[in-house]
Amino acid sequence: METAPVPLGMPELRPDAAGPAAPRPGGHETGLLDQFGRVATDMRLSLTDKCNLRCQYCMPEAGLDWLKKDKLLTAEEIVRLVGLGVDRLGVRELRLTGGEPLVRADLVDIIAALRSNHPELPISLTTNGVGLAGKAQALANAGLTRLNVSMDTLHHDAFLQLTRRPFLDQVLAGIEAASAAGLAPIKINAVLLRGINDGHAAELLQWSLDRGYELRFIEQMPLDADHGWTREGMITAEEIRALLSTNFDLSPDPRARDGAPAERFEVRAAGTPGLLGTVGIIASVTEPFCADCRRTRITAEGKVMSCLFSLTEVDLLPLLRTGSSTHDDDAVASRWQDAMWAKPKAHGMGRPGLGDAGFVQPDRSMSAIGG
Ligand code: 5AD
Ligand code: SF4
Repeated sequence: METAPVPLGMPELRPDAAGPAAPRPGGHETGLLDQFGRVATDMRLSLTDKCNLRCQYCMPEAGLDWLKKDKLLTAEEIVRLVGLGVDRLGVRELRLTGGEPLVRADLVDIIAALRSNHPELPISLTTNGVGLAGKAQALANAGLTRLNVSMDTLHHDAFLQLTRRPFLDQVLAGIEAASAAGLAPIKINAVLLRGINDGHAAELLQWSLDRGYELRFIEQMPLDADHGWTREGMITAEEIRALLSTNFDLSPDPRARDGAPAERFEVRAAGTPGLLGTVGIIASVTEPFCADCRRTRITAEGKVMSCLFSLTEVDLLPLLRTGSSTHDDDAVASRWQDAMWAKPKAHGMGRPGLGDAGFVQPDRSMSAIGG
């Protein structure tokens, strides 16, 4: 049965294929402004599309071609792009993503170069934690500010089923090493898949609280290479709260959300007053926060994606490789601004049961975009 969409203050249809309605005003001083008045200050830069896990909600079991090395941004190009973002276009924080960024051999050098150019810039890294144990101290020494580690379960069998690789112990060792290296606060990202790890949510929260890690649950988004996501199958934020409520009382964190994707809750053991810590829930699908989005994404091959779900990509690589004069910098910066100006108002996934007219899953999986 067809159900009428409920108005959310944003259209259910995606305008990005049509492009922006009006020309972009201004020069570099307007920064990464879009046609709906949002300004992107949070830069997510993917360093590689490669990964050493095969999470079900992201990659296929086999058969995904990696980008050729000459198509990837070089360390110099990365440093130049971040420089343009920070020095000219108003970028205020940087997150390095993948794929799995730790598989890039020059990661520590890249972070050191970025830190040397931008002493105050918050630089964070999203990693799956495999290989982190041996690199955590070097990352901290190079000037990394913060770390998010993706870990969905503490159970070896579920980890294997979910990631298709038996590396849970490596991830746990990596988190411990990061903590020992002083990379605080450590955030843990978890995605719940029905029948695999949904029963582990409360246990993962207790484990994180015990160690002072900030756990965030992320609703599964339709960004898997297998196109296996279904609205009925995904675990919603509402369900996550219910799963946690068996052990914990959650109440909204009074601190301002301030454009953060995660809605934070204070956590108390059920029926007791003492505060144990907080938990975040990122409800990208059922409670979208597109109206407050401050993100600009650049893929490992230098394409601007104004949104995770962008159907259009704007390639900066040819311009970056044309030359490195101020004139060339101007051209790259303008192209980046044009791409962001065309950012869609919303991803159009709507709410469960209310239809998702207009939503089209992008061809890229999460690993090829950068989370
Ligand atoms: N839905 C939600 N989160 C995802 N991630 C990867 N694919 C998906 C998806 N389809 C998460 C990873 C990582 C972060 C960058 O995004 O687990 O924590
Ligand atoms: Fe790799 Fe992250 Fe994708 Fe898992 S979600 S396969 S760790 S890129």
